[in-house]
Amino acid sequence: MQVDLRILRYDPERDEKPHWEAYLVECDPKMDRVLDLLHRVKYEQDGSLTFRRSCAHGVCGSDAMLINGRNRLACKIRVDQLGGRRITVAPLPGLPLLKDLVVDMEAFFAKFRSVQPFLQTDGPAPERERRQSPGDRERFDDTTKCILCAACTSSCPSFWAQPDYVGPAAIVNAHRFIFDSRDDAAEERLEILADKDGVWRCRTIFNCTDACPRGIHITQAILEVSSAI
Ligand code: SF4
Ligand code: F3S
Ligand code: FES
Repeated sequence: MQVDLRILRYDPERDEKPHWEAYLVECDPKMDRVLDLLHRVKYEQDGSLTFRRSCAHGVCGSDAMLINGRNRLACKIRVDQLGGRRITVAPLPGLPLLKDLVVDMEAFFAKFRSVQPFLQTDGPAPERERRQSPGDRERFDDTTKCILCAACTSSCPSFWAQPDYVGPAAIVNAHRFIFDSRDDAAEERLEILADKDGVWRCRTIFNCTDACPRGIHITQAILEVSSAI
């Protein structure tokens, strides 16, 4: 089958603003993913097409983009799942555009770092591992699944309206440690998230939860964090 692939292109050295370009691409809709189509364009039609990808298997989180109007991972969505011959691909919304499908993730990762996403403990280290019951581990299991793709934060209208909002991805990663029974820095993280640009900016719009390629219950995690403040 031939797909009519429309890609929003932007070269900062040549273009004043992004514009759509169309490519006809041969594919097997049951086998090929949107990432395969992008590779085909890059290798066979226009080597200047720029996008991020690494693992190609939904693990690294580097190829989130706006596909047919929804944030998704290009390596996880097959052509037949999109149900049509025309496919549109654009960069993630709400983040500064660098080139073609590549956005600047610096501010996104700065917010991730701001919630101290690492285990912090008081007192001396134990002789052996820090033990945890299966029930305590289960408490934050869902939020361990984040791959930092930014599909959630960049689909959030509260973030579009107020780019200083820490955003769902950072809150998910704070949740992962706040509810870890081995961690001793929950209070500090909750204080950071109680800021005016913290959890209170969430209006429970649920776009984040719909966009998450890992199926994380993001809105629920945000509500759990705000209830703990
Ligand atoms: Fe991506 Fe989901 Fe993590 Fe958000 S919570 S960054 S959508 S994996
Ligand atoms: Fe935004 Fe998700 Fe809250 S879309 S408003 S962070 S529920
Ligand atoms: Fe790694 Fe898609 S390329 S998640």
